[in-house]
Amino acid sequence: MTKVIKNISEWKVIRNSEDLKNKTIGFVPTMGALHKGHASLIERCLKENDISVVSIFVNPTQFNDPDDLRNYPRTFENDFKLLETMNVDYLFYPEYGEIYSDNYRYKIVETDFSKKLCGAFRPGHFEGVLTVVMKLFNIVRPHKAYFGEKDYQQLKLIEGMCKAFFMDIEIVPCPIVRDEDGLALSSRNLLLTDEERKIAVNFPELLKSKKSANQIKEELEKLGFKVDYIEDIEGRRFGAVHIGKVRLIDNVEL
Ligand code: PAF
Repeated sequence: MTKVIKNISEWKVIRNSEDLKNKTIGFVPTMGALHKGHASLIERCLKENDISVVSIFVNPTQFNDPDDLRNYPRTFENDFKLLETMNVDYLFYPEYGEIYSDNYRYKIVETDFSKKLCGAFRPGHFEGVLTVVMKLFNIVRPHKAYFGEKDYQQLKLIEGMCKAFFMDIEIVPCPIVRDEDGLALSSRNLLLTDEERKIAVNFPELLKSKKSANQIKEELEKLGFKVDYIEDIEGRRFGAVHIGKVRLIDNVEL
């Protein structure tokens, strides 16, 4: 049975109880609309810890586009079923006011890498991500936390934050999970029409090709994508594109 916790005060009682004393706590923060990518993080978390906590919180402060926030898929019933099937111990499922009692007056700001790649196209995005992750870490107090490499920039920024603030949490990077056709799994894939889904496959295919970043950008644009960026940084190629109303990101090792 997965126990749903909505209040921080309720969780604090459990977290400080004898039951959890000397147990290792693993944590998988999510925004719900869970897919096999999330399942792979959760599986690893279950394997490596005595107690597993998953959070579902669609964090408004990391959405720079109100339409994106409104349309973000919400599939709570299925998500909960998956967590129960997987035997996750706790689901932390807070409301906005529980997390942002300060009305987002306090923020975590990174001033360098967060301004590049997605940060250059989504002002305030990483402030929102880092702030909510810091809050969730302080609430859950996990020993280990699991993040997917699809959001590679996010992963690196969270690792950097933990180091900068001397946080005693091990960040565990988990490999990208792809559909059979190569598209990286993402909650936003649910929003693609069948037609868009077929075209979307070109994105990972071109990203891993031997072509230059510029060539890839041109080819994607010809195929109807709106390209935010294709950029090579430190042996990794990063890309972000729009197809219809959906924004997709991906990265590959060069
Ligand atoms: O990767 C996500 O789903 C979100 O950015 C996260 C880490 C749960 C913070 O809201």
